Amino acid sequence: MLVILQDLHDQLGYIDSTVVELVAGELNISRADVHGVVTFYTDFRTEPAGGVSVRLCRAEACKSVGAERVVEHAQQVFGVQVGQTTPDGSVTLDQVFCLGNCALGPAAQVNGKMYGRVDSDRLVEILATTETADPAPATSPGESS
Ligand code: FES
Repeated sequence: MLVILQDLHDQLGYIDSTVVELVAGELNISRADVHGVVTFYTDFRTEPAGGVSVRLCRAEACKSVGAERVVEHAQQVFGVQVGQTTPDGSVTLDQVFCLGNCALGPAAQVNGKMYGRVDSDRLVEILATTETADPAPATSPGESS
């Protein structure tokens, strides 16, 4: 199930209740089982992400070198809290708890690319050079467009 969900997530950009129902039906398991997997792994989104995905590490090693200042700054700049997408759909701001880049904290991941030693100014620089990803499809499998 995990491989199927990862593949669908890669293609669609998120796993919503329609996809959960489809996977459950195809695998002949309950929707609760599929939902449990989707919600357990924080890398699975349940709704479309913005054109730029910003993931900021808030685990201890990054916290000790200023990650919370970066998070606060990002929330102010984007006008959203972590876990939210800007109203125009341009940026999704997420938190993670260790990106495996602890020695270079504060760490961030922007559209899948890893960055270290991120402070507020560097985050702005990174975003200025980041291309916006294609938006997620507006419809889910099973919906007509
Ligand atoms: S604690 Fe931030 S990358 Fe590990």
